Order: sequence, then C-alpha cells, then structure tokens
Amino acid sequence: MTLLDEIRSRRSVRKYREEPVSDQLISEILEAGRWAPSGLNNQPWRFVVIKDKTFKTKLSEMTHYSGIVAGSDFCIAVFYNSPAGYHREKDIMSIGACIQNMLLYAHHLGIGSVWLGEILKNKDRISEILGINQSNEFMALIAFGYPDEEAAGERLKMNDLLLKIL
Ligand SMILES: Cc1cc2nc3c(=O)[nH]c(=O)nc-3n(C[C@H](O)[C@H](O)[C@H](O)COP(=O)(O)O)c2cc1C
Repeated sequence: MTLLDEIRSRRSVRKYREEPVSDQLISEILEAGRWAPSGLNNQPWRFVVIKDKTFKTKLSEMTHYSGIVAGSDFCIAVFYNSPAGYHREKDIMSIGACIQNMLLYAHHLGIGSVWLGEILKNKDRISEILGINQSNEFMALIAFGYPDEEAAGERLKMNDLLLKIL
C-alpha cells in the first residue's frame, strides 16, 4: 500500500477484539506521535498510557462513548503542556498533528483507533482521575485495539473542498 492508500483506508474503529496490543507496538505508536511537527519545534504534547482496567472504567464514566473506552485494549490521553507552549492555536494544531500521526501509524500496524473529543467536557475530572497537574491540559483521549468491525466514513468531494487554484 502506498502512504496515500493508508491515509485513505484509515477509519475510526470503535469495536475491538480481546487480543492485547504489545508494549512494543504501544511504544511505536507513541514514537509516531513524538515525531509530529510543531511550531518552533516546541513539542507541546504529553501522553498518559492507560492499560489498567480500573482506570479505563473510571474514564469511561466521563463520556457518552463509555462502551468504546471500556472495550478498548488501551487508551492514550493527550495533554497540552502549557509551559512548553508559545501560541495556543498553533500549539493545539501541533497536538492535532501528533494525534493524527498516532492514528495513522496504528492503522499501519493493523490496530484500530478512534479520537474521542466529546470526553473533553470533563477535562478537569480526567486530569484528576489520571493524577495530572495543572501544567498539562487534557486535549483528547484516543482508544486503541485490534479491530472487530469494518468502519466506514465518507468524505466530501474534492470539488466541494478546493476553493481555488490560482
Ligand atoms: C476532534 C475530533 C473529535 C472526535 N470526537 C469523537 C468522539 O467523541 N466520539 C467518536 O465516536 N468519534 C469522535 N471522533 C471521530 C470522528 O467521528 C471521525 O473521525 C469522523 O466521523 C470521520 O470518520 P473516520 O475517522 O472513520 O474517517 C472525533 C474526531 C475528531 C478529529
């Protein structure tokens, strides 16, 4: 598969098999996030890996999408380290790039994932549950696991997206 094929075939996966993802592959997914671009190369992302069932259950109670979190093999909580930040909008875009790197690399490994944003409504409680101090602001939870569904999401046509070629 070309990189474009991999980008095009990635879809959010919300149902996972029981099979565990190895620590080696979890490290590689984090490594993909670590190499994302950021303004001034400030790398404002920080990670918490959640494999423990008790923590997954506590997190699952913070979102409408509780079944996804509880049914995942592991999750990565992504935080914005504000002391490392220099420009909030740019820093948050960098964190989006970091998250996308991890989603794509997981897909490359045959591991499904979904970026969960709805849980942000409880961002302060998430930090409390995970024991993370106020220097780090919760941005997103990503759920991972070997896929147990064929997911499908469509896209707008290019004609609807391309405003101009000048
Ligand atoms: C910022 C952001 C927040 C999202 N939040 C959620 C969420 O809370 N729950 C969920 O099931 N999917 C969530 N998603 C996944 C989107 O629904 C999904 O990416 C979109 O429908 C396109 O489908 P695809 O990823 O399968 O291509 C989120 C995606 C992004 C980028």
